[in-house]
Amino acid sequence: MGRVADKVVLITGGASGIGRATAELMAREGAMVVLTDLQDQAGAEVVAAIADAGGEAAYHHHDVTEEADWVKIVETVQSDHGALDVLVNNAGIGSSGVPVDELQLESWRGTLSVNLDGVFLGVKHGVGAMKESGGVIINISSVAGFIGLPNMAAYAASKGGVRSLTKAVAIECAARGLKIRVNSVHPGFIDTPMVGGAIQRGGPERRETILNSQPTGEMGRPEDIAEGILYLASDAAKFVTGSEMVIDGGYLAR
Ligand SMILES: NC(=O)c1ccc[n+]([C@@H]2O[C@H](COP(=O)([O-])OP(=O)(O)OC[C@H]3O[C@@H](n4cnc5c(N)ncnc54)[C@H](O)[C@@H]3O)[C@@H](O)[C@H]2O)c1
Repeated sequence: MGRVADKVVLITGGASGIGRATAELMAREGAMVVLTDLQDQAGAEVVAAIADAGGEAAYHHHDVTEEADWVKIVETVQSDHGALDVLVNNAGIGSSGVPVDELQLESWRGTLSVNLDGVFLGVKHGVGAMKESGGVIINISSVAGFIGLPNMAAYAASKGGVRSLTKAVAIECAARGLKIRVNSVHPGFIDTPMVGGAIQRGGPERRETILNSQPTGEMGRPEDIAEGILYLASDAAKFVTGSEMVIDGGYLAR
């Protein structure tokens, strides 16, 4: 208990899946959690669940692709809670699942806009908010940030971008003498609504294919990723920056 006691943590995409599990775990470990999303009803439900469990949380509507929304949420967090200590850039959208020669430019831009522009804006305004007192930024990439997977060109490009952006900013912060650690997390296949959507589109064979591709024969749980994020957010990771934490049930080890 208390691994992030009294830290103010902002989690994007916190209404569902990995973001929700992270919000709940951080709150159990003593953080004041501000979660943001486009899904207001689901966000309010997460806040209620955290309050029922004795934790502290607030929800705000926030589109990560809009810079004005970033300015507003960072100001709100600082004025309501006094600081921004940890930012988890988690909001993301899945793959369109079409071959690259059929991928529409609009769809490519839509994916990059949420998954990469959204993380850039978070990093930009996060560093701005943390540069006096220090902090931690954790960017959620994917195993797709390391390897090629079919019909996922835009998603892979966005997640590879998040991995490189993370390292560039980690080194830049260190070089500037800013006490800001920046790391990426690379989940394998995790049982969340995002993967559920892909399975729904691809049918039962898609689920079989995913399960057969797992060294352990099963998908991960959102809580498996939340534990890694918690470690990076905590002072136990004080020497960890610019790193890439893979949590994938062995997917990349083959
Ligand atoms: N589930 C997996 O297998 C898996 C694997 C690797 C990486 N990831 C990454 O983990 C992160 C979380 O994914 P998840 O599986 O929990 O998905 P999810 O769909 O359950 O949750 C993502 C959340 O992001 C929100 N969101 C989407 N666009 C947004 C926007 N423009 N502004 C604000 N919020 C927005 C959604 O409303 C949703 O609540 C994503 O970045 C995803 O790419 C997931």
